[in-house]
Amino acid sequence: MDIEKDKLPKHVAIIMDGNGRWAKKQGFARVFGHKSGVRSVRDSIKVCLENRISCLTLYAFSEENWARPKMEVSTIMNLMVSSMKDELSSFLKNGVRFRYIGDDTRLSDSMKEEFDYCVEQTAHCQNMTLVIAVNYSAQTEIVSAARKIASDVAEGKLKVEEINKSTIENHLYTAGLPPVDLLIRTSGEQRISNFLLWQIAYSELYFSPVLWPDFSEKIFTDILKDFTSRERRYGKTSEQLEQQNK
Ligand code: IPE
Ligand code: IPE
Ligand code: MG
Repeated sequence: MDIEKDKLPKHVAIIMDGNGRWAKKQGFARVFGHKSGVRSVRDSIKVCLENRISCLTLYAFSEENWARPKMEVSTIMNLMVSSMKDELSSFLKNGVRFRYIGDDTRLSDSMKEEFDYCVEQTAHCQNMTLVIAVNYSAQTEIVSAARKIASDVAEGKLKVEEINKSTIENHLYTAGLPPVDLLIRTSGEQRISNFLLWQIAYSELYFSPVLWPDFSEKIFTDILKDFTSRERRYGKTSEQLEQQNK
């Protein structure tokens, strides 16, 4: 079955989970799983480019992940910086615009420098946007949006009655990105773990049992096919949608 291209998602978000279990299963240290997961990231970008999916957001490190052993945290951070260095030329070649979201105040200067350099260098790229969520927490994101909005009100720049859904959206880290159509989580866990809470209000959810380092182009493509077969009703009835599509 070919994919119905006009039904593909515009924005896919992925909770890349299961690296530690993947490594443990083969008798390796957890960090080996993180290193092996980089290939799955590359493959996922390739699938998005091939299917003209304009935005891919990847959950790479949560605010809660700081609670892990120091060595694991520093390996993940170093891996993100070195991967960014390695991938920049491929991003430029393939027209991938890079962006990162999360609370950047806790990131190291060298990481921010590397990420900002990549954001700058790829600013003109138009084939797709790759968003990496690092030190990300959806609840913190909402608190920070609330604070910015409250200070606009306090300074008289905004009236309370003017606050609407767009006001909130425009103050989130994801301002300007399309809503998330499809949220995938690997590793069999069925939870959101403080990822994009506002942005997934009407997303389709897909939980895959596959551990992240085993995620492949074929698995992602099959999930996209499944997505195109779903009926997104947004509160309406099937009959109304059929009428609408006539
Ligand atoms: C996801 O894999 C990567 C991060 C959270 C950084 P895990 O490291 O959570 O792998 P499991 O869930 O322990 O198998
Ligand atoms: C969620 O995975 C965070 C990332 C994938 C970066 P976790 O493995 O940290 O999630 P929980 O704690 O098991 O829910
Ligand atoms: Mg996990």
